[in-house]
Amino acid sequence: MTEKIRLTKLAPNCGCAAKVGPGTLAGVLSRLPKFEDPNLLVGTETSDDAAVYRISDDLALIQTLDFFTPVADDPYTFGQVAAANALSDVYAMGGEPKTALNIVAFPNCMDTEILGEILRGGADKVLEAGAVLAGGHTIQDDTPKYGLSVTGFVNPKNLWKNYGALTGDVLILTKPLGAGIMNTAIKAEMASEEETAEVLRSMTCLNKYACEIMKQYRVHACTDVTGFGLGGHSLEMAQGSNKTLVIHTDQLPVMNGVREYASMGLIPAGAYRNRAHVESTGYLSTAELCMEDIVFDPQTSGGLLLAVHPEDASKAMEALSSLPLPCAIIGEVIDRGEHALVIR
Ligand code: CO
Ligand code: CO
Repeated sequence: MTEKIRLTKLAPNCGCAAKVGPGTLAGVLSRLPKFEDPNLLVGTETSDDAAVYRISDDLALIQTLDFFTPVADDPYTFGQVAAANALSDVYAMGGEPKTALNIVAFPNCMDTEILGEILRGGADKVLEAGAVLAGGHTIQDDTPKYGLSVTGFVNPKNLWKNYGALTGDVLILTKPLGAGIMNTAIKAEMASEEETAEVLRSMTCLNKYACEIMKQYRVHACTDVTGFGLGGHSLEMAQGSNKTLVIHTDQLPVMNGVREYASMGLIPAGAYRNRAHVESTGYLSTAELCMEDIVFDPQTSGGLLLAVHPEDASKAMEALSSLPLPCAIIGEVIDRGEHALVIR
C-alpha cells in the first residue's frame, strides 16, 4: 500500500506565506521601466490588488494573477483555495470575474489523478463565481503550484481602490484572521479536526458575497487581506490615502485556537517579514504580542478590508451578518498622525 501523499509536505512555505516579502519586491519593481497610458486606471504604483484598464466610460477590464504551493493536503481543497484567492483580487476592486485561465506546475512522477482533483476544485470555484474557465498553461516542476489568471469587468465609476479612505471611515473585515498561524499548526500536526475544517471553510469561501453586499454602500477604499497580513495591507491603505488607520485588536474576528497557537510561538516566517516591513515605516502598538502576531499573520484567501462611510457601517454590518463567516468592524480612519498604522 502506498502512503497517502500530503501535498503541504512538498512545499516549505504554503499559500500566500510563500509570497516574496513586500520590501524585497518594492526594490526590484522600482528598477523596471515606467508604463504610462491614460486608460491605465490602476497600475503598479499603489501595490493594488489588480490592474485596471479603461475600455470605455462605463467599462474597465480588471486583470490579476495569483498562484501558490499547496495550502491543503487534499488536492480538491487546494484547488478551491487557490482559485478563491485568485478570484478575490477582482472582488477587491469591486468587480465581477468573467474569464479565468489555469496556471499549473506539477511533478512528472506524481499521480495525474491528483492534478485532476486540483483542477476540479479550481473549476468549481470559477463556476460559483459565475465566470468561465477558458484555458491555461502547465509546466513540469518538483513542487506542485496552482492558481488562476482572472479577467473581470467593473464600471470605472464604481471601482474600489486600495486607497481613498477618508477621515471618519469605519474599517470592516469580512473574514476571520489566523489562516497562516493555523496552517503552521496543521503542518505541525497540532490542529484539531474542527480547527482544520474552520480554516479550510474560510479559505475556500469566495469574497463574492461580501463584495455584492458592500456594493450597496459607500465604500471609499478596499483591498483583500492576503500575504502581507492585516497589518501590511492596512499600511498600504493608510499610506495611499495619506491617513492613519487605527486597528482595535479586541474587535478582530479570529479563528478558534489561533490565539493559543500564536502564544505558543507557532508563527509563520512571513509574519516576521510583514512586521519588519511595517516597522521600517513606523507603527504604534499597545496591543499584546500575540494579537500583534495575528495582525501580521500572512493570510491565504483572506477577507475584504473596507473603509466605509460611517453612516453606512451599521447597515452594512447587518447585511454582512447573513454571511457564513464572521465579519466585524475592526477600527477607523483618522487624520494622518505620526504613525500611519496604530494597533490598539
Ligand atoms: Co489582493
Ligand atoms: Co494577489
